[in-house]
Amino acid sequence: MATIIDGKLTAATIKAEIAARVAEMVDLGKRRPHLAAILVGHDGGSETYVANKVKACEECGFTSTLVRFEDTCTQDELMEQIAKFNADPDVDGFIVQLPLPRHLDEQAVIEAIDPRKDVDGFHPINVGRMSIGLPCFVSATPAGILELLDRYQIPTSGKRCVVLGRSNIVGKPMAMLMIQKRQPGDSTVTVCHSHTQGIKEICREADIIIAALGQPGFVTADMVKPGATVIDVGTTRVEDSTRARGWRLCGDVDFKAVEPIAGAITPVPGGVGPMTICSLMINTLKAATGEIYPRN
Ligand code: GUN
Repeated sequence: MATIIDGKLTAATIKAEIAARVAEMVDLGKRRPHLAAILVGHDGGSETYVANKVKACEECGFTSTLVRFEDTCTQDELMEQIAKFNADPDVDGFIVQLPLPRHLDEQAVIEAIDPRKDVDGFHPINVGRMSIGLPCFVSATPAGILELLDRYQIPTSGKRCVVLGRSNIVGKPMAMLMIQKRQPGDSTVTVCHSHTQGIKEICREADIIIAALGQPGFVTADMVKPGATVIDVGTTRVEDSTRARGWRLCGDVDFKAVEPIAGAITPVPGGVGPMTICSLMINTLKAATGEIYPRN
């Protein structure tokens, strides 16, 4: 029986720690950290993420602002809002919820955000600083996974870590973080993707598997070494007529089959998901205190 890595519980603990820090700041006469979000359109997943971010801000004692645009909005309108948040001394950090409608240039949007307010850690300055081990905003999902590995004392030094997926948001930063000279880190990392040959054999060698492909149930029991740690980043909505809302979240790991073999495993939901939002709160607190980029 594997240890179930409880992201929901860990996230609740961390949010309580953050709320205590915020209460101290307020007692000292400082203003509350302020996270702003821009949401374009009405994508179901994005609506849920943003609603959860607003709720997490309340739990942590942060101020939050949500600016919405219709999915017909122009690049210029979006850029104008980003410039406003960049210039607003009252906003510590902000995010633009991704994905954006196809007519908008996502990379230009990311690069327009002031790296000092880029609490998503997507700006090339933050990605670059992360890759050479400098203080920066680390993107929320990989940061949340590191926090889980740390709090559950999963050994990573010298271990073989296989990252499934090479997205800019999860796979690439995750691989980069796991090879850093630090704890958790110091792993030997292999990144697998759609063109990788022999994925099953590669996974079977892994002490840690981090699955971020977006393919429900991709990691099966025959791919997991007994005792391995399995981190499931997948959050695909699959139809489920037994649920009132008509769908459920499905991870990249066949949990039922893998759990008896693994040493530790994250469930979906309640694993990585709650930690992602928690990391965003940690980054916003760091933006407010100026501990990564000193505030002018
Ligand atoms: N879409 C999926 N994950 C994320 C995230 O971490 N940040 C933003 N801005 N959009 C996302």
